[in-house]
Amino acid sequence: MRKLTLFFATILIMAFAASCTWQKEEDLVSNIDPCDTALVSYATHIAPIMAASCNACHSSGSPLGGVNTSNYTGLSVVAAAGSLIGAVNHASGYKAMPQGQPKLDSCSLKRINAWVNKGFPNN
Ligand code: HEC
Repeated sequence: MRKLTLFFATILIMAFAASCTWQKEEDLVSNIDPCDTALVSYATHIAPIMAASCNACHSSGSPLGGVNTSNYTGLSVVAAAGSLIGAVNHASGYKAMPQGQPKLDSCSLKRINAWVNKGFPNN
């Protein structure tokens, strides 16, 4: 019985020791990516980018170029066609967007690229 107790006590101490990592607070903070794309979401990230930079020209009614970026259905059409990625990344063969303006900031681009690569979920 004492041997068994000792055995479990050893396991416990080892598990406890293994769970401890030591990192400086600054390291932990700098490890947080301010542009994390793992959890990219249409509602949280993509729709606001479109609202800020695209919907002025591409919303329902008579959207320019026949492209509607103001709702999921419209945006999924250009996401599937490849023209969303092509246009915002200023790829050759596509009209550079937003039209007449500089490229979107790199975090917005990362998020759009990640979202399309994940199959543009309506999340
Ligand atoms: C100032 C108005 C304007 C803004 C802002 C704008 N677009 Fe456009 N967009 C256009 C026009 C006009 C066309 C059609 C261009 C043509 O066919 O010559 C177009 C075409 C497109 C196309 C089709 C491109 C192709 O090569 O097939 C996509 C996709 C697109 N826009 C996405 C966007 C996105 C995403 C944004 C925001 C980042 C955006 N646009 C911002 C005016 C705009």
